[in-house]
Amino acid sequence: MEKKRNPINWSDKRYKQKLVEQRKHMWHKDTVDKLADWMGLKSGMTGVDVGCGLGFLGYTFWPYFGDGGHYIGIDISAKLLRDSSMASRDWASGGDAGFVNADTYRLPLADNSVDLAMCQTLLMHLTRPRNALAELTRITKPSGLVICIEPDNLSSELIKRNWSLPELSTDELLLFFKITLVSNKGRIKLGRGDNSIGIKVTHMMSELGLVDIDARQNDTVWFTEPPYEGEVQQYRLKMAKRNFLDEKYYKFFRKKEREEFLAGGGDPKDFDRYVEISDRLRPIAKEQFDKGEFYGCGSNDFYTIKGKKP
Ligand SMILES: C[S@@+](CC[C@H](N)C(=O)[O-])C[C@H]1O[C@@H](n2cnc3c(N)ncnc32)[C@H](O)[C@@H]1O
Repeated sequence: MEKKRNPINWSDKRYKQKLVEQRKHMWHKDTVDKLADWMGLKSGMTGVDVGCGLGFLGYTFWPYFGDGGHYIGIDISAKLLRDSSMASRDWASGGDAGFVNADTYRLPLADNSVDLAMCQTLLMHLTRPRNALAELTRITKPSGLVICIEPDNLSSELIKRNWSLPELSTDELLLFFKITLVSNKGRIKLGRGDNSIGIKVTHMMSELGLVDIDARQNDTVWFTEPPYEGEVQQYRLKMAKRNFLDEKYYKFFRKKEREEFLAGGGDPKDFDRYVEISDRLRPIAKEQFDKGEFYGCGSNDFYTIKGKKP
């Protein structure tokens, strides 16, 4: 087990809500089709999803390997596993899906035993992502695949977005960037993982002896545009409203961010200024929501990295 336990309890209502919401509309179907082909998924494979949460990778990729296949979801949270196991009854037809409560650092599976070992947004939360990747590699059969789907939220945060809210000054934008950079340092220091892990996986795979390493990006663009037609736009609008207007949600994540910023050596005055600017934008956002005038567009760096075990 990890010595420095990751403080996130994913079965907590707020995190679980975030998990469900962020997965909705996360991928375009044609991108998943292309990815499954690029990965070489085939019916009858045995796929392990480590840090499976609610089984998102299971139900996303099941159509490509599930016929006669086996899915094993592994997670440290027994509570989440109960939900994912129940949900799998709806998607895991034609093969079998099982769930195991275990730690990513000590997977209860034999060496060289699975065709596919995968994870999504797991490494980014770990203190020792390389060790976790080594475990995924250990259980994979020779010629089998290790797949990691991980973001580089840091670079994504540094990319300017276009939205209907007042343009921030260059100094304000630089302050936002500083908050992001320093908070990630603090996050690593606090043992909460690394928001930038997505760009580090190809090298880790190479160090671990995987071959035929290749990487792709998710091509989903997050935009919200009046009159918000259709399910995806309605969903994006709901998320934007939640981010700006839900007081509890806003305070909860600001508190976490502040801890990380200070742990990274940040100046409390900088953080207060950042909150001041964010708070200034909230009533303007509310007015735009009320009038149906809010819009925004941006994207996230989200990598899928594959490596073959020689
Ligand atoms: C951000 S969630 C991702 C869940 C899922 N892969 C998805 O993309 O929807 C991270 C998951 O990793 C699990 N996790 C965190 N640390 C772990 C560990 N040491 N061993 C196994 N699972 C872990 C958490 O319980 C949580 O379900």
